Amino acid sequence: MRKLFSGLISLLILFSACQPAAKQNQSAAGADVENRVEELLAKMTLDEKIGQLNQYTSRWEMTGPAPANADSMFIYNMIKEGKLGSMLNVTGVAATRKVQQLAVDSSRLGIPLILGYDVVHGYRTMFPIPLGEAASWDPEVAKLSAKVAADESAAAGLHWTFAPMVDVSRDARWGRVMEGAGEDPYLGAQFAFARVKGFQGDDLAAENTIAACVKHFAAYGVAEAGRDYNTVDLSEQRLQNEILPPFKAAVEAGTATFMNSFNTLNGIPATGSVHLQRDILKGEWGFDGFVVSDWGSIGEMINHGAAASNREAAKLAMIAGSDMDMEANAYINELKGLIESGEVHESLVDDAVRRVLRIKFRLGLFDDPWKYCNPEREKNVILSEENLHAAREVAKKSIVLLKNDNNLLPLAKSGKKIAVIGELAASKDVPLGNWRAQAIPNSAVSLLEGITAVVGEQNVIFAKGPDYVISQRNFFTKLKFNETDVSGLDAAVKAARSAGVVVIALGEDCFQSGEGRSQSDISLKGLQQKLLDEVYKVNKNVVVVLMNGRALEINKMAETVPSILETWHLGSQAGNAIADVLFGNYNPSGKLPVSFPRSVGQLPMSYAHFSTGRPSGSDDVTLWSRYVDVANSPLFPFGYGLSYTTFEYSGLTISDSVLTKGGEIGATVTLKNSGERFGEEVVQLYIRDLVGSIARPVKELKGFQKIGLNAGESKEITFKITEKELEFFTEAAGWHTEPGQFKLWVGTSSAKGLEGSFELK
Ligand code: BGC
Repeated sequence: MRKLFSGLISLLILFSACQPAAKQNQSAAGADVENRVEELLAKMTLDEKIGQLNQYTSRWEMTGPAPANADSMFIYNMIKEGKLGSMLNVTGVAATRKVQQLAVDSSRLGIPLILGYDVVHGYRTMFPIPLGEAASWDPEVAKLSAKVAADESAAAGLHWTFAPMVDVSRDARWGRVMEGAGEDPYLGAQFAFARVKGFQGDDLAAENTIAACVKHFAAYGVAEAGRDYNTVDLSEQRLQNEILPPFKAAVEAGTATFMNSFNTLNGIPATGSVHLQRDILKGEWGFDGFVVSDWGSIGEMINHGAAASNREAAKLAMIAGSDMDMEANAYINELKGLIESGEVHESLVDDAVRRVLRIKFRLGLFDDPWKYCNPEREKNVILSEENLHAAREVAKKSIVLLKNDNNLLPLAKSGKKIAVIGELAASKDVPLGNWRAQAIPNSAVSLLEGITAVVGEQNVIFAKGPDYVISQRNFFTKLKFNETDVSGLDAAVKAARSAGVVVIALGEDCFQSGEGRSQSDISLKGLQQKLLDEVYKVNKNVVVVLMNGRALEINKMAETVPSILETWHLGSQAGNAIADVLFGNYNPSGKLPVSFPRSVGQLPMSYAHFSTGRPSGSDDVTLWSRYVDVANSPLFPFGYGLSYTTFEYSGLTISDSVLTKGGEIGATVTLKNSGERFGEEVVQLYIRDLVGSIARPVKELKGFQKIGLNAGESKEITFKITEKELEFFTEAAGWHTEPGQFKLWVGTSSAKGLEGSFELK
């Protein structure tokens, strides 16, 4: 039965795969590319076609489980035989030139390789981790960082980045939260679009742009219990409304490629999902680039229990529209047999090869395979002054001020001595973050250096405190934290006692978040809380600088210390950017892209939750949808962030109480900078659909604008509302709107805003 079913699917898919190329190809240049693809395809043997769908990592850098054959000669021979279409983890002009030369000069058809790498937040000049950049609520900031990353990568011979990661995640236990734009599909879509544009520019063939790869398709970020690679069971409605919008935005931005994901979705591995890859991505959305599997994810279908062998996995993945096999050796070993036996139709392989070749042509690789290998550019572009400047600008805009009692911040540049405390404060490595591509270890400006550069050594007393991480720190090892050895604590307390103000860096090592870094406990590890407690006992003027890749549980800290600055892992210029904010050269303007829970037990958590049938109630009554030991609300809500100035919202007006189908209304507020210095505020629009054919979230972000105002200045801010903002997906009706009453809020966070209402007729 299963065989018959997959045969039928194969035929149906074959039909759709043979349809004329999708919308993107209709221009003259597009037609030229299509002709060249067809011409080349006609010359290829079946082995050569399958070779184009095979991707291996280099043997000198790996980002997944080591391949069985660790020999570089093996790779070189595969290239020469036309059995490899792509490599990952080959970097630098010399190395990329070497493998490309083999492909171009020694394989029968000379088809260039496409060389990919995880350039997630910078190639060598490191920008903030993507979650941090999302805290800027300024997509232009992410576009700039992607542009610089593309420029550096392209100069180092790369053609393709495995970024942006656009997985919406509402679970801080999941370590990969750091790689995305946080919990919200709307914010995520804006950042997905901007990042793709930043990497790819307007011309994929330009020497300083690279192909983007939007990942992980799909629903990888909602793994059960926040455990990486875990099962996902999600209604189609939640998939469409909460998870897919950023992916769709990336297609609209023209992303060249997609990566699928490790998880199952409703029982089907995403890698083998016809629904995701054929129906939605290549069908409905008209995506004409290619899909690469995640590392070994075709083979992992066996572990999922969805395929009995690599052969069956290869068959299911090919039928489902996974075009390129990253490191599973499934296509290279099995596809030929599957075609010869008639289990997979060759036109499916042709369709996949067309897609791969199309992107290679669009990158200009056939016209000049060496365009991306330029030693001069490699020397001049990478880590240039200009790029470091951009990294500092982006970093300071990514910082969120969470607490600032009695305006302890900004600090005076002279006068009081500053105690700088904590292992993270002196670290030149942690700020570089995980997924750090070719960052030079220990090359970031540390917080200590940043502060010292402003106030001079004579005004700084540094104390490291107890050790934090006591194991090796790298992409593969599991970290161990010091839980017992208090050496260094006394010196830290002494430093705190003798200073006017304490700046203490706490949070996470950069290898604490990222792939495979799920945690069941998201409070401070090691002796960090103890260090903070002891320091706070002797000096109340404490500024906590948080460095972390996910939301943390920091209730105790939030109840005690006056000031908390969320700085994520900010990249090469971290220390300078944090100092810019600490001393008021830059007024913090970031807002949280994720809710900070009060307790890990609240996770997953989002402001855009549903009402339930028992939404609220008195604290004394038990039978409401709530916890008996903690409030439902977050500690710090999505969209929250303070400034050194204050903003007042007033006079919300809605241009019409009725929005007619196809029409437009405006929601306007007056924003006033009521403080004493220039500042930027992110004005946020949230909407609630009060009654729907399916239950709707209690509010959803539908617009935001970042506005700069001088002290005392006011401005009217208007959001346009059309049916687009009100659309949602149901299984019964697809994407649509439903007439009825809506509430809206315009304000400073998901928890605070002026309220209005209107009707859709
Ligand atoms: C990750 C991907 C990454 C790939 C290649 C996988 O383990 O899930 O995000 O792009 O490795 O490094």
